[in-house]
Amino acid sequence: MNYICNCKKTNLNDKPYTYWEDRDITTDELDIINFLDKKKDITSKSILHIGIGNSYFAKKFSFNNNITGITISQKEIAKAESLNLLNYQLLLLDKYSIEFKNFLNKNKFDLIVDTNLKSYSCCLKTFEFMIHNIFKSIKPKGMLITSVNGMKWFKDLKPKLSFSFRKFFFYKLKEISGNKHNILMPDELKNLSKKYNIKMSIDDKLCYLKK
Ligand SMILES: C[S@@+](CC[C@H](N)C(=O)[O-])C[C@H]1O[C@@H](n2cnc3c(N)ncnc32)[C@H](O)[C@@H]1O
Repeated sequence: MNYICNCKKTNLNDKPYTYWEDRDITTDELDIINFLDKKKDITSKSILHIGIGNSYFAKKFSFNNNITGITISQKEIAKAESLNLLNYQLLLLDKYSIEFKNFLNKNKFDLIVDTNLKSYSCCLKTFEFMIHNIFKSIKPKGMLITSVNGMKWFKDLKPKLSFSFRKFFFYKLKEISGNKHNILMPDELKNLSKKYNIKMSIDDKLCYLKK
């Protein structure tokens, strides 16, 4: 994939890396799901889910919405495909890449969900590039929603050859502590949102960015 920065990157497309497909959904994303569950109008929406994990989100909402899910893990894609859900398109895409921007240029969404917006970014320039791209792809009256706790993540992912008796040798993405600058401060997000006429509001669990 291609990027606007020169930060050193590992190619994550070359191997079927395991990451979150068999792990439980995070409580941070469950907070988002609980909020959406209470809203009565989550139906017939075009939804972009960034970071599909185990696809629990799609299981909840794909029967009456159209969901596009992206991830950097081929194993998460394989798990998602094995669920045979209707209205669920999958893309192996890095959200910080130019390829993702090109995809967003052609696709707009009523709702975008990303529990960890900044955690995995390599530098500020690339993070702001991604924010610019996703803000532009929110439809009028649409919303981006993220988790307040997820904003505090600063994990990095390291490819690793691993072994287990069930899977023998397999490639996984190991979480390591990343750059503390990737903690996303509410004021930072608010300042970015102002540039795009997006209204940000926040409560104890979630952060909402509305067009
Ligand atoms: C900690 S897991 C959380 C999974 C799920 N969102 C949840 O909260 O349960 C992070 C997710 O983000 C995805 N991810 C990490 N970096 C990414 C990137 N640069 N572009 C797209 N997806 C990414 C991972 O593949 C994984 O699905």
